[in-house]
Amino acid sequence: MDHFAYKDGVLHAENVPMSTIADAVGTPVYVYSRATLERHARVFREALDAVPRKHIAFAIKANPNLAVLRVLAREGYGADIVSGGEMQRALAAGMPAQDIVFSGVGKTRAELAAALEAGIGQFNIELEEEGVVLAQIAQEMGRTADAVLRVNPDVDAGTHAKISTGMKENKFGVPIDQAGWIFARLATLPGLAMRGIAIHIGSQLFDLAPLEAAYGKIGALMRDLRAAGHVIDRVDLGGGLGVPYERDKIPPSPADYGAMVARATKDWDATLYFEPGRVIVGNAGVLLTRVIWVKPGVIRPYVIVDAAMNDLARPAMYDAWHDFEAVAPTGEHFVANIAGPVCESGDTFAMARDIDLVKAGDLAVFRTAGAYGATMASTYNSRPLVPEVMVDGDRFAVVADRIMPEAIIAAERMPDFLQD
Ligand code: LLP
Repeated sequence: MDHFAYKDGVLHAENVPMSTIADAVGTPVYVYSRATLERHARVFREALDAVPRKHIAFAIKANPNLAVLRVLAREGYGADIVSGGEMQRALAAGMPAQDIVFSGVGKTRAELAAALEAGIGQFNIELEEEGVVLAQIAQEMGRTADAVLRVNPDVDAGTHAKISTGMKENKFGVPIDQAGWIFARLATLPGLAMRGIAIHIGSQLFDLAPLEAAYGKIGALMRDLRAAGHVIDRVDLGGGLGVPYERDKIPPSPADYGAMVARATKDWDATLYFEPGRVIVGNAGVLLTRVIWVKPGVIRPYVIVDAAMNDLARPAMYDAWHDFEAVAPTGEHFVANIAGPVCESGDTFAMARDIDLVKAGDLAVFRTAGAYGATMASTYNSRPLVPEVMVDGDRFAVVADRIMPEAIIAAERMPDFLQD
C-alpha cells in the first residue's frame, strides 16, 4: 500500500497535489512519500517477526537520497553499501557504522581501509584474495574486520538476466563448492574475524522457490562449516523481493517471504542479515513529468514527456514497465507510445500502451519509481540532473536539487593546449 492517491480527481502524494509540486519545483522531478517509506520499512520488519535475531540493512543502491536514508535510519535500518560513496551517505544520514554491511565485487584497497577506519559492522567478501588483502590492511591498522564470505549458490532466480546474480557464470561470490576451503583459509588470517556466509541471487524476484532453494544450499554449507569447527553466527540472505510495476502482476508479499524465511531457517541459530532495497522504496516514489507534445505517429501517437531515459533508465535498460497515470485524468483513454526527448529510439517508456488520455501541458507520473530511479539518472544530452522531493503529510521539501547544465559545465576544464 502506498500514499499516492487521487483526491478530488487529482493525484496526491499524501496530502499534497502533484500539481503543487510541479508548480513549485518544475518537472521532471522524483516525488517520495515519507509515510509510504515508513510503512514499507515496518511491514518488512514485522514480516520477519518470527526470526529471533536479525539485522536489516537497506540496500542503499536502490535509493541513496539522504532524506530517504534518514527516514530508514529512524526505523532502525542499517545500510548495505557497495562503495565508499555509499558509506559516506549512510554515515551522513546518521546510520551507525556498526549497522553497515559492505557488499560488492570490486572494493578497492582505499575503500576497504576507509570502511575499517569508520568501523563498519560487516564486510561481505566476494573472493579469496579480497579477504587476504582486507586482513592485511586491518592488521596494519591494528583492527579486526568482521566478515562473511559471499557464496554463489548457482541458482537461477528467474528474473531479468541483467539483475540475476546467483548463477555460476555471474561475477558474484565464490562458487559454493569451493566455499569450504576458502572460508577455512580466511578463518586462519589475523585481522579477519570470519563470522558467517552470505548470498544474494538477484533482484525483482517474483518466485520464492529459487530463494528457498538458495537458502537450503547456504543452510547446508553453514552446517558443513560448523562441522569443520568454524563458528557461524551470521548468515546474510541478501535482498531481492520484487515489487508490482504493473497493477495486476502481484509479487509475493513481505509476509509470504517472512513465512518462507522462518521455515527455511528454523533452527539455524544465527543472526540473519537482510538487504532489501526495491521492496522498501520502489512504491514510495513516482517520477512526475509533463507532456511536451502528443505527436501524431504513423501507427499510433507518441506522447513526448519531459522525463527521459537519463532520468529513469529502467525501461531502456531492462525493458521495465512503469505504470503511467495522468495527474488529473479525464476518464478517457487512448493507445499511445510514451517517449522522452533524448535522441535515441531507446528513450521510450512504453509502446502501444492503453493510458489515460493526455494532451500537451498535462502532468503525469511514472509509478514505482522510488527504487533505481534518481540514483541511476545521468545528464546525457546535457539535460539537468533530475531533482527529488519528499512529501510529509501536507508539507514537502526539495531533498535533491536540480543540477543545471551550468553547474555541470563549471566542473569541466579547458586544457592549456586549447586556450589559444
Ligand atoms: N544486496 C545485494 C548484494 C545486491 O546486489 C542488491 C541489488 C540488493 C541487496 C538489493 O536488491 P533489491 O532488494 O533491491 O532487489 N538497477 C536494477 C537493480 C539492480 C540490483 C542490484 N543488486 C533495476 O533497476 O532493476
